[in-house]
Order: sequence, then structure tokens, then C-alpha cells
Amino acid sequence: MKGLILSGGKGTRLRPITFTQAKQLVPVANKPVLFYGIEALIEAGIKDIGIVVGDTKREIEEAVGRGERWGKDVKITYIEQEAPLGLAHAVLVAESFLGEEEFVMYLGDNILKSGITSLVQEFRERKPNALILLTEVPNPQMFGVAELCDGRVVRLVEKPKVPPSNLALVGVYMFDHHIFEAARSIKPSWRGELEITDAIQFLIEKGYEVIPHMVSGWWKDTGKIEDILEANRLILEDISGRIEGQVDADSRVNGQVIIEKGTKIINSVIRGPAIIGEDCEIINCYIGPYTSIQRKCRLLGTEIEHSIVLEASEIIDIGSRIDESLIGREVKIYKCPPRPLVYRFMVGDKSEIGLK
Ligand code: TTP
Repeated sequence: MKGLILSGGKGTRLRPITFTQAKQLVPVANKPVLFYGIEALIEAGIKDIGIVVGDTKREIEEAVGRGERWGKDVKITYIEQEAPLGLAHAVLVAESFLGEEEFVMYLGDNILKSGITSLVQEFRERKPNALILLTEVPNPQMFGVAELCDGRVVRLVEKPKVPPSNLALVGVYMFDHHIFEAARSIKPSWRGELEITDAIQFLIEKGYEVIPHMVSGWWKDTGKIEDILEANRLILEDISGRIEGQVDADSRVNGQVIIEKGTKIINSVIRGPAIIGEDCEIINCYIGPYTSIQRKCRLLGTEIEHSIVLEASEIIDIGSRIDESLIGREVKIYKCPPRPLVYRFMVGDKSEIGLK
């Protein structure tokens, strides 16, 4: 069995961050989202993994490499998609890599708490032509929704006005080679993409067996800022604290906090769960729960919580609290007026914000 991770796409919903970097490399609890997917596949015993890449090919290759960090038997193959023409298009592009083998298709911006071992197992035991992962949602109008009958999927509808169920499709699928015939037979949708839901609907109509598998534990598609922050919160909730940097006598660290080596905490309060990467300087700050700060950041006289700060950024003397923010790489934020009481930033790489 092979793995196929989709890591191309446009990432329009995460602009401005995605003007300069791949959304799949945005860190959640200081680890790129994409790594959660790769690790879920490896944990399920799938070590021959193809990654579909688009414009951001180079940085994805740089971050993932050949997969050696996950062990000698892990093999990563990059598959170029000339344009983001849809999830079913990505499957077709990967046909020569996948061959006749069954495979897991994993959307590279998704995180599943419970991994994918149980669905791989169910696919192996029941040997359907396709398996789709579903989760109950309160607002099925916003998702691709499945209608079930006698343990099979009988219909898929994209963002239905009158949903046939509250079961939304999650970004992990399993297929045998019949999916290629399906992807070749469908036409692009109104948005010009070959939709995977149309390809699965084709399988259903041709009488192939498509079965559902319910997600246990949470699932997050990190395509939007609120979802990245929520994924960050959910992952941090489960961390165990560890302090490898230096914390001076005037600072307090409460709850589960990871402080990586080379980092100095001076006269500050860190309230977990939180993670602070290597070689940071945190001086006269309050770092509140659900905050991830990547390496080489410098925070001075700042209150921040429920936020993600990417590497090598500087936040200096902000008179208000920073909350629910996603701050890019090498950003500088300084001397902001003390009103409003709370700042919420969504800032692209290398931006500068402050009063001169
Ligand atoms: P989406 O989040 O559905 O699409 P997108 O990346 O274009 O984002 P946006 O809607 O914000 O513009 O894609 C899900 C995953 O699949 C994501 O990791 C990108 C990847 N993908 C491809 O690799 N090829 C494609 O043709 C498409 C549409 C997505």
C-alpha cells in the first residue's frame, strides 16, 4: 500500500502567509502541518509516500527531504502537478507512481488526532474499492456530505442546501486503482477543478463498493487561520512540558511548557500549554496558553496568547495584548498604540508594523 499526500494547491484562504510560503509548512505546535500527515502514514505502516507539489515544490522538498529523518525505510517521491486543477487531477498526476497499488490519499493541510491506522486496517480487512472518512458536523451545509445506506456510501453532495446527513467528508481517503478510471471520466466542476467527490460519486454509480469510516477524535483542516489556531490549541493540550533553555529567577513557568535549548526567559511569565522554540529571547513578557513561538524570535515587553509566531520575528513593547494571531517569519512589530486593548494580527513574512 502506498501513500499520497496532496501538498500543492493555492492556499488563497491563508493569505498573506501563503504569498511567501506553502500552507502545509505553517507550523502547528512548532511542527509543520505536513509532518503530521507524513507521520500518520508511517505510523499506519505506509512508508512509500508520494507528495504532490505545485508552485511551492522547492520549499516542501527542502523541509521534507527524502524522508530520512523518519527512518531509512521511508521513501518520499515528489510528483509535480502543473496547476492546482483539483484533488482528482492530483490523483491522475500520481498514476504512474501509484500503479496498481491501493493507496491512502491524505490532504497535506489536515491533522487527525487519532491517526489513520484504524481506517487502513478496515480497508485491508473489507477490501472495498474506496473508503472515505467521515465526521459528524453541526453545519453540513459547509462541507461535502455523505448519504449512507446499509453500511455503504450511496451519495455524496458538495455543500448541500438540504443535507442528507450531518456526516462531512474528512481529508483522508483510500482507493484501489478504479479511482483512475473515475477521475478520467468526470468533467471539471463550476470552479474548474476535477473534484474527488465527483470521482467517488462515479465509483458509486458504477456499482463499486465505497464504504464509510467514522473519525474518532478530532480532525482539523488547517486551511484558514481560525482552524490553524484551533489545531495549535488541540495539539498543545496534549504536550508534556520540558525545559531545555534558561529561565531566570524572576520568571515563572506554569503548566505544560516546552522551552527549547538556547532560549532565554527573563523576568517573564509563561503559562502553558505553550511551546517556545530554540534560540529565542523572551524578556519582560507574558506568554499565555496555546501559544507557539518558533525559533530565533525576540519578544520584549509583550503579552501574547492563543497565537503562533513564526521564526525570527521580533515583537517589542506592544501596549496591548496580542491574541488569536498568526505572525509570519521575520516580522517586526513594535510601538503599537495601547488601543485597542487586544490586537489580532494575521501578518505575512517580513512585514513591519509600528509607529516610527
Ligand atoms: P484545498 O485546501 O481544498 O485547496 P487550496 O490549497 O487551493 O486552498 P484554498 O481553497 O485556500 O485556495 O486543498 C486541500 C489540499 O490539497 C491542500 O494541501 C492543497 C492540496 N491540493 C493539491 O495538491 N492539488 C490541487 O489541485 C488542489 C485543489 C489541492
